[in-house]
Amino acid sequence: MDIKYKTYWRKTGLKSKWGDIFLELIAKHNPKSFLEIGVFCGVTSMNICNLLDYLNKGKFTYIGIDLFGEKKNTQNDEIEPKFLTNQKFSNPLKNIYYNLILKEDLNSLESVSNFLKKYNKNINLIKGDTNEVLEKIDLSNIDCVFIDGGHSYNTVKNDLNILYKSLKGKEKVLICDDYGDLSYIPEVRKAIDDFVKSNKLRLNVIKDRFAEIIT
Ligand SMILES: C[S@@+](CC[C@H](N)C(=O)[O-])C[C@H]1O[C@@H](n2cnc3c(N)ncnc32)[C@H](O)[C@@H]1O
Repeated sequence: MDIKYKTYWRKTGLKSKWGDIFLELIAKHNPKSFLEIGVFCGVTSMNICNLLDYLNKGKFTYIGIDLFGEKKNTQNDEIEPKFLTNQKFSNPLKNIYYNLILKEDLNSLESVSNFLKKYNKNINLIKGDTNEVLEKIDLSNIDCVFIDGGHSYNTVKNDLNILYKSLKGKEKVLICDDYGDLSYIPEVRKAIDDFVKSNKLRLNVIKDRFAEIIT
């Protein structure tokens, strides 16, 4: 595939080879309308938009949901990227550039909207806790979802249940991060296993990391 994952000198949850593996996985399903839960700094979002733009010749939609710095309304047991506390970088140049010169919070709605502005006609960024906002969003066109937001058992289970209900009756693909042994989070795996079992669905583990559920 011609499209390669780029990091744009920001932060991403999909480092080194994982970005390309993820894009290959998405390209296989040829989606037109994508939902990402957990936008973080928007890097995976930008890569998804680049891919969907290429696959659909500009005719695609992308919805991204994140707290974008807003306090969670629910669980105390969320597992968040350490970076979110005080925007820490291992690269000192990034620290100078983003924290001292630009004073830009890369996980803010403003920063991500600005970063993705070339796609502003295709995208909808929503600020909020999925436990509250997900069921209020029109998901009827969505055909592929990347679930990488709150990592507690209750949030993952709730996200999956709402998606399953909202997207019922059409074929869709749910990709979840942190399921396989290489980036295993016990709460995430248990929530996915319980969901798959109770709805009698099939799950593929991709490269020992992602869970792929096709309904
Ligand atoms: C692991 S990061 C996402 C990484 C991103 N998908 C990427 O590839 O770069 C998780 C994100 O989920 C957001 N988040 C955590 N709990 C959430 C919730 N309950 N609702 C919405 N977003 C949440 C955090 O603010 C954080 O930006």
